[in-house]
Amino acid sequence: MPSILIVGNVTKDVYLRLDNRVNNFETDQNGIKWLDLSFDNSHFNYYSRVSIYGGASISLEVLSRFGLNASISGTPATFLDGQFIAKDIHTTYRYILCQDENTSHLEPSEEVYTSWQVPTINPDWIYLDSSAVISPKLASELLDYLNLSRNTKLALFVGRHANQNTSHIKDLIARADLIINSVPLEEKHDNNIYIGKSCIEYQGRKVDWTLSNKRDILTRLSIHLTIAASMLGALALGKSTDDALLLARANAENSKLSSTLNLSTLEKNIAGEYYRIQNTNERKEKVSEIEITAQKLMAPGKGILAADESGGSIHKKFESMNIPDDEQHRRDYRNIFFTTPDIEKYVSGIILFDETARQTADNGKKFVEYIRDLGIIPGIKVDQGLVNFENSDEKYTQGLDGLPERLKDYYDMGARFAKWRAAFEITDNSPSDAAIKKNCEILADYARDCQAANIVPIVEPEVVYDGDYPIKKNIDYTSKILDQLFDELTRKQINLAGCILKVNMVLAGKRQEKQSTPAEVGQATAKVLKEHVPQELAGVVFLSGGQSVTQATENLHEVIKNGPFPWTVTFSYARALQDPALQAWQGDNTNADSARQAFRERLIANTNALKVD
Ligand code: 13P
Repeated sequence: MPSILIVGNVTKDVYLRLDNRVNNFETDQNGIKWLDLSFDNSHFNYYSRVSIYGGASISLEVLSRFGLNASISGTPATFLDGQFIAKDIHTTYRYILCQDENTSHLEPSEEVYTSWQVPTINPDWIYLDSSAVISPKLASELLDYLNLSRNTKLALFVGRHANQNTSHIKDLIARADLIINSVPLEEKHDNNIYIGKSCIEYQGRKVDWTLSNKRDILTRLSIHLTIAASMLGALALGKSTDDALLLARANAENSKLSSTLNLSTLEKNIAGEYYRIQNTNERKEKVSEIEITAQKLMAPGKGILAADESGGSIHKKFESMNIPDDEQHRRDYRNIFFTTPDIEKYVSGIILFDETARQTADNGKKFVEYIRDLGIIPGIKVDQGLVNFENSDEKYTQGLDGLPERLKDYYDMGARFAKWRAAFEITDNSPSDAAIKKNCEILADYARDCQAANIVPIVEPEVVYDGDYPIKKNIDYTSKILDQLFDELTRKQINLAGCILKVNMVLAGKRQEKQSTPAEVGQATAKVLKEHVPQELAGVVFLSGGQSVTQATENLHEVIKNGPFPWTVTFSYARALQDPALQAWQGDNTNADSARQAFRERLIANTNALKVD
C-alpha cells in the first residue's frame, strides 16, 4: 500500500451560524459591519456551533479513506475507524462565520510555520498541502531530504498563500512531481492538477463540478483540500486520469462537513452515474463556433467598443448638448466611430443597439455588414433595461421574453455576440442577496439562450461606480456577485470557453471622499478577478462606468500590470472611448474628422495601456 506523508497544519475550524435577529452588528462610518467577537455568550448568539478539524486533517482523512498509509509529519495524528485522532498536536483556530448564505473566515493573526520531521521509513509520496505555511527553512530541509530519498515523489499544492515568486517556493515547484493549484500558475507545468471554480483539469482531461446547495457551510478551502487529496490518492493507487477526476468530483460533491467518503462508496458512486469527461485536447481540435468567436473577440492587444447605448441614454447625452435626438443624428453619431481610420487595428468587436444594427452605412450596406467587412465582429445589446423589484428600489434586468427568437434574427443579420447588463448599486442596504441571486439567474438564462443560438454571451454584472462607498465594499460585493454568477452559469451548464465577462473595476464610489489610487484599483481588481473568475472563461473586459477618460486608461494599465491572468483582459468602454468624440462632433458633421481623431486617440491610449511596461 503506497504511503503518503502529509506536510501541513491541522486547523480547528469553528463554524458559527449567526442569528441575524439578535446579533448586534455595528456599522462604521464606511458602512462596514462589525461584530464584537468576544465569544461571550451574553453578547453573541448563534443557532449552532460546529467545531471540526480542518487543514491537514482533511488530507489525512481523505487519503486514509482511500486505504492509503497516510500520516502527518511531526505529529502522532491518525485517522482510525472513521475518526481523526489528534492527541497532543498543535492546531491553529479558524472561525467561520455563517450568516444566511455568506461565510467569512477569521484566521489567527500569527502564521504558524509548518514543521517537518525526518521520517524513519521513506514514504512513496510527500504531500505539501495548502494548509502548509512554508518557510524557507522547511523548503530547504524537505529538498535536502528528497535529494537523499530519490524514490520519494513530491506533491505540492500551491495555495494562494504560497508566493510563487519567492525562491524557496520556486525550488519546490521545480522539484515537484505533481502540482495542484487553484490560483493560476505563473509558469506551465506538465503534471498539473488545476482546481477551478467549476472544473478539475489534469493532463488534458476535465470534469465539471458544482457545490450545489451546501456552499454556505463547507469552505472552498476544505473542498479544495478534499479534491486535491482525492486526486493524489487515486493517482498514487494507480487509477487512470479519468477515474481520478471522477472520484475527486464525487468526493467534493457528496462529502459532508467533516465526513468525506470511502473509496468503495466513491467507486459505487461513479459507476452508478453518468459523468461526462471532456478531453480538453480534443476540445481544442473541435472547438465550437462560439469558442472560436470568443477567441477572436479576445484577440490580445485589442478591445471591444460598446456603441450600444439605449435610446434613453443617447437622448440624455444629446439633450445636454442641444443635439437633436432624431434617427439621422443617432446614425451620424455612430457612423463617426465605425468610419474612424484603422479602427480594426484596435477593436475586435463592436456592440450595437438594435436601431443601429438596422441602419445603413455610407456605402449603402447595413452597419452590421459594414463592420463585418472591416474584420470586426458585430455584437448586439439584447437586454431591455432595468425594472424595479416590487416594493424595492433595487433593480433587475428584463428582456428574456422572446429572446430565443430575437437572437435567431440577430444571428441571421450577422451578429455573433451579445451583451446583457445587470446593475447593482451599493447603498446601506443594497445590493441584497435576493437581488444578486435574481440578476445572476437571469444572466445565466440569457447566456444559455445565446449559446443555443451560436451567439457568444457577454455577461455584465456591474457594480455601479456612482455611490458613496469605500473600496472594501466594492471588493466584497464584486467578489460575491462573481461567485454567484459563476455558480449560476455552471448550474445552467454554460460553456465558459464561449462566454465573456464584462465587469466593473474595483474602486471606491465616485462620491467617496477618499478616491482609490490607480495602484489600489489595479491590485484590488486583479486580486478579485484572479480569485473569483474561473480559468476556463474566454475573457474579461471592463466597462468604464463613469470614470474619467484618463482614469479609465490609467486604471486599466494598472490592472494589466498586476497580471498575468489566465484569460485576456481588455477594455469594452462606451463613455471612456466615445465622450471626447461626442464633444468634438457637437452634432455637426463638419466636425466629423476631429471627432474621429479624438476617438482614435482613446483607442491608441487604451490599447497601449494593455501593454506591460
Ligand atoms: P461605459 O464604459 O460607459 O460604462 O459603458 C460600458 C457598457 O457597455 C455598459 O453596459
